[in-house]
Amino acid sequence: MTGLARNQLVLRARSVAKCFGGGRLGCHDMSLEIASGEVVAIVGESGSGKTTFLRCLGGHLRPDHGIVELRSKDDTLHPIWSLQEEQRIRLLRSHVGFVHQRPRDGLRTNVSAGANIVEPLALSGLRDFSQMRRIAKEWLDCVEIHPGRVDDVPGSFSGGMQQRLQIARSLVKRPSLLLMDEPTGGLDLSVQARILDLLRNLVRELRAAVVLVTHDLGVARMLADRMYVLRSGMIVEHGLADQVLDDPHHPYTQLLVSSMLRA
Ligand SMILES: Nc1ncnc2c1ncn2[C@@H]1O[C@H](COP(=O)(O)OP(=O)(O)O)[C@@H](O)[C@H]1O
Ligand SMILES: [Mg+2]
Repeated sequence: MTGLARNQLVLRARSVAKCFGGGRLGCHDMSLEIASGEVVAIVGESGSGKTTFLRCLGGHLRPDHGIVELRSKDDTLHPIWSLQEEQRIRLLRSHVGFVHQRPRDGLRTNVSAGANIVEPLALSGLRDFSQMRRIAKEWLDCVEIHPGRVDDVPGSFSGGMQQRLQIARSLVKRPSLLLMDEPTGGLDLSVQARILDLLRNLVRELRAAVVLVTHDLGVARMLADRMYVLRSGMIVEHGLADQVLDDPHHPYTQLLVSSMLRA
């Protein structure tokens, strides 16, 4: 377990901004807070800055402005981008899981499924081979992959299985914060539904704080407690997921919701 009590602030981002070369806006003045046990969705159309913001939160992309603070096990909020690189990597490694949209970006394709799952534990010092194998099989089972596939490489798995493998790898250390970038994008609807169901149960069990990026409002409705709506690199609306979806205030959110109803 993460050791965090429910409803304890896990991540706080304030006024985060990132511009790319040529003055291209990635995201601007974005603030977000999330507590343990909460699922927050970030929604918006393609190019609205969802991935950029998530990468700033997860330590992958240094923002130009703003502060991203992450709570450690000793209960201190650490401004991740002010830490020395080594400290930042250590903090993120032990507290944050990241699920990429494309499984191959989050998996090592040349090692077995089992090695993919337990590598984060090995990196933090676990050396007992039989224990690692047992943990790998338990996690395969958790994400509904037959444990007999522990020695197979990810390339022999379907897209949905690879995504479930990536989810197992991101959760094995029981992170206090899970960041997911369109985790079911590009998968068949039936495969999506199974993965979403699985995620809902795992997240509840682990009591992690989850930031879920999606362009799919149906996915947000299914998993999220709160949501933030992004447009052109800025947050235009946020609130309880049901409230935002049932009674959207911003014209852009109204458009998104009505296009979902038409789909
Ligand atoms: N590495 C990059 N270099 C230049 N521009 C980028 C880069 N990553 C994202 N952008 C730009 O930032 C904006 C937001 O992109 P992104 O965060 O990927 O949006 P989303 O995830 O919502 O589709 C887009 O205009 C995109 O072209
Ligand atoms: Mg994206």
